[in-house]
Amino acid sequence: MIPDWIEEQLNEIKDLILPIADTPTLIGPEDWDISSAYWPALDEINPVDAHAYDKAISSYAKDYGMEAPHGNNLEEIQKIYHQLSYELGAHHGALCLYYPPGGYQSWHNNNQTPGRNVLFSWSKEGDGSFLYYNPLTGVKEEYQDKQGWNCRSMEFIDLVDSDEEGFSWHSMWTNCERISIAFVLHETEMMRELFEEFDFQNESENGILS
Ligand SMILES: [Fe+2]
Repeated sequence: MIPDWIEEQLNEIKDLILPIADTPTLIGPEDWDISSAYWPALDEINPVDAHAYDKAISSYAKDYGMEAPHGNNLEEIQKIYHQLSYELGAHHGALCLYYPPGGYQSWHNNNQTPGRNVLFSWSKEGDGSFLYYNPLTGVKEEYQDKQGWNCRSMEFIDLVDSDEEGFSWHSMWTNCERISIAFVLHETEMMRELFEEFDFQNESENGILS
């Protein structure tokens, strides 16, 4: 459950992005197909090479949080985003993405950008998913978006901890408009209080709170 004071700010960002959202640039191979790559053979990847997958190798989404503000609603979007980041006690912002129908991020594991993340995503119709897999636990998870705002939290595993903890492979796809807003949090007393407000109902075997 997303506390009202957070959802209000998320809605402000959403309502600023949707009117200006335009077609993102496709990054990576054009023939990337989520259905055939649904559960890729991630176990086959040499962990030494795994850092190559730190960043999404293929994506179809546009970041409205990191771009240099230059008119439209960008300045306002970033103002609210940074304010929310501050109010959450975030270490730093992670992303503020718009996905069009057909948008996605391919499998990657954030091992160079580790830490406790809180991920908010808004889905217009609920036709999309967040997928997660840790080869160490062997547990594959799929979180279907629900219409409106969704919230999850997870720790992205650092490469130096991967022998003991595995890798945080994840990907996303959507057949409808989707907005994803994420922050990396300081693990402090403030975060514990914040998580009490979220009142997460479930913790998966991979440690994902939802
Ligand atoms: Fe990621």
